[in-house]
Amino acid sequence: MSREIQIKDKEFELFITEEKIRERIHRIAGRMNRELKDKNPLFIAVLNGSFLFAAELLRHLNFLPEISFVKLSSYRGTSSTGEVNDLIGLNEDLRARNVVILEDIIDTGITIDFLIKDVKRHNPSSIKVATLTFKKQALVKPVDPDYIGFEVPNTFLVGFGLDYDQLGRNLNGIYKLKDHRNA
Ligand code: IMP
Ligand code: MG
Repeated sequence: MSREIQIKDKEFELFITEEKIRERIHRIAGRMNRELKDKNPLFIAVLNGSFLFAAELLRHLNFLPEISFVKLSSYRGTSSTGEVNDLIGLNEDLRARNVVILEDIIDTGITIDFLIKDVKRHNPSSIKVATLTFKKQALVKPVDPDYIGFEVPNTFLVGFGLDYDQLGRNLNGIYKLKDHRNA
């Protein structure tokens, strides 16, 4: 795993290793195995960013949940547009279901807030949120995820699903934007 990478105009440095990411995801899977096994949960993974988190997590569950995918986006470049585009793909019957939303990152919380409200309209029994990374300091909506991989600082990250201009999603580690202020 290289320690530094360049994507277009930006330099990134390794922040969380693949080993550490997988270990955290397996720990979340362990908790879900205890807490959700008997609840017939429906997992909803938010595309594009959560595909690797969802894959690693779901492969470590010891029960047989339903899994679906939705797509929504609010981001351009390295800063939030603050506006969520339409939700694509929520076709499941969510009535009386225990829904678990899977996200790659919660930044301002605007996206997950939008999705939670949308899911609520379908009258599920419960909604839980699992996110690989959580920029708690960047929140502008009151979001309190049930399962958190890493609390991360308010800096731009790529890798393990997270992109910069659609690139870097396939990196095995999570990299952070290099800070040149002290260089
Ligand atoms: P929010 O609506 O501000 O919480 O942003 C959520 C979405 O913005 C995520 O699902 C990501 O697609 C994107 N995002 C936020 N922070 C980052 C980051 O550091 N790197 C890459 N994408 C990010
Ligand atoms: Mg996303």
